[in-house]
Amino acid sequence: MTDSNASPDALSRATAIVEAAATDAAKRPTIAGFFDEATNTVTYVVHDPQTCEAAIIDSVLDYDAAAGRTSHASAERVVEYVNSKNLQVIWHIETHAHADHLSAAPYLQEKLGGKLAIGQQITLVQNVFGKIFNEGTEFERDGSQFDHLFADGETFSIGTLEGVALHVPGHTPADMAFVIGDAAFVGDTIFMPDYGTARADFPGGDARQLFRSIRRLLSLPRETRLFLCHDYKAPGRDDYAWETTVGQQRDGNVHVRDGISEDDFVEMRTSRDATLGMPKLILPSVQINIRGGHLPDPEDNGVSYIKIPVNAL
Ligand SMILES: [Fe+2]
Repeated sequence: MTDSNASPDALSRATAIVEAAATDAAKRPTIAGFFDEATNTVTYVVHDPQTCEAAIIDSVLDYDAAAGRTSHASAERVVEYVNSKNLQVIWHIETHAHADHLSAAPYLQEKLGGKLAIGQQITLVQNVFGKIFNEGTEFERDGSQFDHLFADGETFSIGTLEGVALHVPGHTPADMAFVIGDAAFVGDTIFMPDYGTARADFPGGDARQLFRSIRRLLSLPRETRLFLCHDYKAPGRDDYAWETTVGQQRDGNVHVRDGISEDDFVEMRTSRDATLGMPKLILPSVQINIRGGHLPDPEDNGVSYIKIPVNAL
């Protein structure tokens, strides 16, 4: 299974950006990670220290599922940081349509400005889940809920920093990684070396594709800093961690270090995924996140509702 959306030049472009940043500190972003313990998610604020332009990657809207209530403590931490550093947010980036937390992108856009972006293949995810949730024709499946859809190999800038988007499907068909200077934001592809990799059993997921996407990321220079979307600790580790390097992953990742074959990975990933329950917030998360973080349109009483498909997932 090859990725028909992969651009042949994307990886060499990403490698050139990382190499340029390795020898020139001015090409390296300043990165702050905000860990949300309720969903194990890390939100990043990435900025160019020269111009103070910034991107927010994978924000979290707090959600009390029992009460059906959203709140903004996690998003407000990010707002405070952005304002304290006088940053100008130009991008809100989602690495994928998350299944474990709701996105706070619309809330943050309203407070801070900036455009919302996700990978081009979000349309596939909108189609799959549009069917599962029996969304009517008013739910557009063309990605139009986002301001920009990134293609594999597409370049972008944050102030003077150069970035490139990489399509890394497998966890979902639309997952993207974003290389910015010497850092790569890898979403839910790979986790800390002692924890391994993301699951590949959601609708549209594929373990073989995930392996190939991860190996593509691990062909970046060894010194590339990798920033993960989640951490769950790991047996024997007491602290949360979300930063590692390509070299550390190649040497020691328990699922995909150098020497582990694609077939062995697929066998391990598939049998492990069969034992995992659904994430607590998958049903509300996906319904909101395929809409770019917006709630479904309110009904005639002014209230938005989230559906529970019974016996369908
Ligand atoms: Fe995810």
